[in-house]
Amino acid sequence: MRQLRNFLLAGVLGLVAGVGASAHADAAKKITVSCGSNGIERDLCIEGTNEWSKKTGQRVEILSTPNDSNERLGLYQQLLSAGSADVDLYQIDVVWPGILASHLLDLTPHLSEKEISEHVAGALNSNKADGKVVALPWFMDGGVLYYRADLLKKYGQKVPQTWEEMGKVAKLILEKEHAAGNAELWGFVYQGRAYEGLTCNALEWVASTGGGTIVDDKGAVTINNPQAAKAIGLVASWVGKKGSITPEGVLSYSEEEARGIFQSGKSIFMRNWPYAWALLNSKDSAVKGKVVMTSLPSGTAGGPRAATLGGWSLGVSKYTKNPKEAVDLAKFLTGFEQQKMRAIKGSFNPTRVALYSDAEVLKANPHLKELKQVFLSAVPRPAGPTKTKYNRLSAEFWNSVHAVLSQAETAESSLKKLEARLAKTSNGGKW
Ligand code: GLC
Repeated sequence: MRQLRNFLLAGVLGLVAGVGASAHADAAKKITVSCGSNGIERDLCIEGTNEWSKKTGQRVEILSTPNDSNERLGLYQQLLSAGSADVDLYQIDVVWPGILASHLLDLTPHLSEKEISEHVAGALNSNKADGKVVALPWFMDGGVLYYRADLLKKYGQKVPQTWEEMGKVAKLILEKEHAAGNAELWGFVYQGRAYEGLTCNALEWVASTGGGTIVDDKGAVTINNPQAAKAIGLVASWVGKKGSITPEGVLSYSEEEARGIFQSGKSIFMRNWPYAWALLNSKDSAVKGKVVMTSLPSGTAGGPRAATLGGWSLGVSKYTKNPKEAVDLAKFLTGFEQQKMRAIKGSFNPTRVALYSDAEVLKANPHLKELKQVFLSAVPRPAGPTKTKYNRLSAEFWNSVHAVLSQAETAESSLKKLEARLAKTSNGGKW
């Protein structure tokens, strides 16, 4: 175990000396933080931790973790189950507090009522396990649709309201653009790799078509239903070779691959998280100023829309040798100023209520006014009812959906088998 841990750490640790560290070198403690690295996430984490170092004289080391959320969970579980003190502060996904709570410090004693009330209630509550706050909310995610406003305008198309409409608009524009020589253009890209991101995407197709949330609030497995099959079947019917709406490559796309295609001007629509906004509008982006971010379509005309609730928090390891400093850093990074900086530079949705009416944040994120409600009413993955088995459920689900997208199975047969497997995994819905 120790060998494996050392190997993992050797591969992923990158040293970032705190700016102010040298002056206090003797007394300085070293806090190791795990940060995500989608887009400019890692840069902003370094910027934030450097500021804290400057302020406190402590050193910070950044652990760059795998981008795929489920792989990151695997790494964390290795470290935590070995009681490792190598990482003090973990960036954790909104679906993990239940899974990791036994390894994290209870932060409740470090929070005043006022501090608690400054966060969006849902974001804070999703970080509670057995009534204890085990991580501090850092940013909130919700799935959104990005589209090329210039192309829709060129062909007189309205913003599609349903998934079916989106398919039609994509097909119409593709045919004309291909005929005009824009051969590399695709219609719709998203996160289709067999990983946690696909669970998030497919949950949106299913929930917005009235097919539920895989497992209901009480733990009953509900995924084998005609609406769910219809929703997944529709998106799968778009995948194919040139001339199709979605490239076969989508089967291995995570957030960054989808963004790469869209940002280089090669897709009309993209499903992604808000972080892509800042990058799509960065200096070197081929689509700067041509993109609109809006809510995902519905499965039925006038029906519900669904954005999967995502987001990340900071939790302090129970095995840290420096709990005081680690808690202080978690509070600093999730504080008002840091969240504001990250919202402006990286379009990370704040978890602090006050930032939703901050003029500078709104200027950098003009969609926030319209989409605030979408984010606040985002659909949670069934992490609550499935408890510590959430990751097993999710892996079963994404594998079933992946089989349909890759045309290995029909949606109906794949969901039927999934239901049977989940009946076993869940011990008949008891989890
Ligand atoms: C985003 C979300 C996170 C989700 C992940 C899946 O990072 O914030 O909650 O699990 O995407 O790829």
